[in-house]
Amino acid sequence: MGANTSVRRALITGITGQTGSYLADLLLNQGCQVHGLVRRASSFNRSRIEHLRSNPSIAGNSLHLHYADLSDPTTIRRLINTIRPSELYHLAGQSHVGLSFDIPESTCQEVAMATLAILEICRDLEAPPRIFHASSSEVFGRPCHFPQNEETAFRPSSPYGCAKSFATQISQVYRQSYGLFICNGILYNHESPRRSENFVTRKIAKAAAAAAAGKPEILELGNLDAERDWGYALEYADVIIRMLQHPAPGDYIVATGKATSVRDFALAAYRSLGSDLVFQGRDTEEVGIDPRNGQIRIRINPKFYRPSESASLVGDASRARHQLDWRPAVKGLELAALMANAELADSSAP
Ligand code: NAP
Ligand code: GDD
Repeated sequence: MGANTSVRRALITGITGQTGSYLADLLLNQGCQVHGLVRRASSFNRSRIEHLRSNPSIAGNSLHLHYADLSDPTTIRRLINTIRPSELYHLAGQSHVGLSFDIPESTCQEVAMATLAILEICRDLEAPPRIFHASSSEVFGRPCHFPQNEETAFRPSSPYGCAKSFATQISQVYRQSYGLFICNGILYNHESPRRSENFVTRKIAKAAAAAAAGKPEILELGNLDAERDWGYALEYADVIIRMLQHPAPGDYIVATGKATSVRDFALAAYRSLGSDLVFQGRDTEEVGIDPRNGQIRIRINPKFYRPSESASLVGDASRARHQLDWRPAVKGLELAALMANAELADSSAP
């Protein structure tokens, strides 16, 4: 199988994750043959691609899953050599910033060194694929410029951010040195109903939906003042694909340009389901109260604070707008409503 045949053959690392699963949906819709790298775990984790796996016209036809692991580059080499993808979307890795303070070494191995291993494998190929690397706004950590663009200096503030910085820069070096077609998508936070439950937006959406369904719980959060540039993962998967269809490789900021605080995201999520929370108190004593009955819905648990927090990261996606004709429609507060409503619909489905 040569890499330059007319059939688009895509390999996705991280296909079982949030963004990888949307990529698979979009690429299959475009008529691509999609191969997904999956790792073995003690519990079966395919929920985000179950709709594809259970579709007999897709599974085993246009979608193929293969076992491999980032900690085992030989498995990845074998896979790439066999599949000979024309497009390689590298998204796999430990993606939790807070957790990277607890498990820094494995985070750096998976995020930094495994990316280098993939680049080395591709460098040896006669017809290397076009490569997308999922970089992160965490490379900017505490930036000197707002909003950040592709020229902003990297100043990471977490082990995860350091690892992504290395992976991004080594990708640039391989592009310049070996002529590989590599794009870094410097992705700001993107969320969806497929987001893992240990990220703040999904935690909030679940709690807001539980309250609306008459099963309120107390939601424990960390830093309510933290601000993020939140976009919709489905739209981010779309621009990722556009990067590899563009005539020339490059790096792209992928962001909405709008910052929203955790507190405002929570207010919007609850409000969209008919509950106007009120925040009272300060610092670790702050609580979110339901004014109808005075009950506490949100309180602070310092265990969710981080040893070091990124600044308010906001991206300038002008390059993606001009070169890739990409404009995100869903931003922070609309996203909160979208996720809360999806959660409620899902919890009330039979
Ligand atoms: P995610 O939901 O956490 O998915 C991560 C994926 O990586 C999962 O498929 C996971 O497999 C896989 N994976 C983790 N360790 C692996 C290993 N050792 N071997 C093979 N596969 C492994 O993350 P996401 O939100 O989709 O993000 C995708 C990528 O974009 C990540 O690299 C993330 O760091 C980056 N990124 C994300 C955002 C964001 O806001 N979502 C922003 C910037 C950058 P399992 O399903 O088996 O766990
Ligand atoms: N996870 C979490 N849980 N975060 C909380 C909580 C909580 O209970 N309470 C407040 N936060 C704050 C965090 O301190 C952070 O400032 C913000 O909410 C967002 O946290 P996460 O949702 O965990 O996302 P993240 O910004 O740290 O990382 C995500 O975005 C990065 C791009 O900037 C991940 O998707 C990374 O993989 C990605 O690179």
